[in-house]
Amino acid sequence: GKVRAPTHIVCTISDVRGEEPCYAGVPMSSIVEQGYGVGDVISLLWFKRSLPRYCTHFIEICIVLCADHGPCISGAHNTIVTARAGKDLVSSLVSGLLTIGPRFGGAIDDSARYFKDACDKNLTPYEFAESMKKKGIRVPGIGNRTKKGGNKDKRVELLQRFARTHFPSVKYMEYAMQVEAYTLSKANNLVLNVDGAIGTLFLDLLAGSGMFTKQEIDEIVEIGYLNGLFVLARSIGLIGHTFDQKRLKQLLYHHPWEDVLYAK
Ligand code: ACO
Ligand code: LMR
Repeated sequence: GKVRAPTHIVCTISDVRGEEPCYAGVPMSSIVEQGYGVGDVISLLWFKRSLPRYCTHFIEICIVLCADHGPCISGAHNTIVTARAGKDLVSSLVSGLLTIGPRFGGAIDDSARYFKDACDKNLTPYEFAESMKKKGIRVPGIGNRTKKGGNKDKRVELLQRFARTHFPSVKYMEYAMQVEAYTLSKANNLVLNVDGAIGTLFLDLLAGSGMFTKQEIDEIVEIGYLNGLFVLARSIGLIGHTFDQKRLKQLLYHHPWEDVLYAK
């Protein structure tokens, strides 16, 4: 029989060899004619399946809520400085994206990992938070520079309200809220942040949709798909900040001398 020469690349998410491009087997004409949105396309290209409408709507809400958070946070600051140094769109965008990581925007996967592990093991919020403290690890998804117990992040509340109305189960969300109640009893800045809300709600989405096996959920959490939501969303805002600086013809940024402590 025929022997297939081994290929150098394997791809399972898209194919453009036919009459029309396909995402996970769905032809572009269906995608356009049936009004697929960004959430549907993420479902196809990241999760390789069509997810129910409430799931794709949730993904779109995450993207809308995380698109921008003003000029003062790490990512936008880097993008603004780079755009003002006369660099192009891609350079300005990636300089902002490079700040996304464990402290800023990139704690979604770790919050899903740690909260899942703790909740599945039935650890009490006290046991979970204190075991993290003993290991010297900050609880991913907890803490925010500007939000406090009495002034919580509206985005978190909106995500949770949507999930309560549309998700079949919000077990992980409720666990995260219990952990937040415990951490807030320790310090007023230890709120559940937007990364923690998305990480734990995505666990509920994956488990409750009935579209993923337990093994697939473990793989998604293990590989770390979820920071991708923040990267994708925040690119929208970072591109906006680049255009804003160019439009305003802003000059090269120079940090004020008086704002530096020259210490020995
Ligand atoms: N778990 C446990 N303790 C914490 C946490 C946490 N997640 N966050 C802060 N603390 C404690 C610190 O240990 C510190 O106490 P200490 O000075 O006695 O050590 C105190 O709270 C204040 O910490 P700061 O560093 O001043 O807090 P800051 O407001 O600068 O940090 C940050 C904010 C970086 C988000 C922090 O809370 C953190 O590392 N959280 C975990 C990572 C995370 O979730 N990042 C995503 C944020 S959301 C987003 O970027 C879109
Ligand atoms: C954001 O969405 O950029 C913020 O939540 C980050 C922050 O540090 O406030």
